[in-house]
Amino acid sequence: MATNNGKLRYTTPGIDTADAERVVTLLQDRLHAANDLHLTLKHVHWNVVGPHFISVHEMIDPQVEEVRGFADDLAERIATLGGSPQGTPGSIVDNRTWDEYSIGRATTQEHLGALDLVYQGVITSYRDAIKELDALDLVTQDMFIAQTDKLELFHWFVRAHLEDKSGALSTAAATSEGDAAPAAG
Ligand SMILES: [Fe+2]
Repeated sequence: MATNNGKLRYTTPGIDTADAERVVTLLQDRLHAANDLHLTLKHVHWNVVGPHFISVHEMIDPQVEEVRGFADDLAERIATLGGSPQGTPGSIVDNRTWDEYSIGRATTQEHLGALDLVYQGVITSYRDAIKELDALDLVTQDMFIAQTDKLELFHWFVRAHLEDKSGALSTAAATSEGDAAPAAG
């Protein structure tokens, strides 16, 4: 689970302190996810090869910029609630609950197949947090909903490359990046 950000000395008015501490934990977990995702997307931007290089290479950069913006908003919400955002590389690696992205230089289709799995994981975690925030803090929930809306759009951009004319995804049976990459390639 996410980093325990510790006890809060103060928080924003109208939120119970124990609730705010849980909200900060949820925010910190999403901050790690956003920091991990924008770095991973840059890694993909640099490592894609093949005939569709330029379209995928250029498609990824706006996603990097958007997700970096998510990280900034999440971190500043933690501080607003009286917490201390953790943004160092070591804290991401120590506290994340998912594996390091596993694909190096590979074709655009292989990376897009792997990114399908990455987005599935990130979006599922956002939606779980949105459900929990329903009883804790609707302002933070609103931020998570807006970020999920963008992530789901980017997931569609990825999946549109993996879809056939019938609407079936080449990665439908994959349960890991390692399965998804060859299925898409
Ligand atoms: Fe670049």
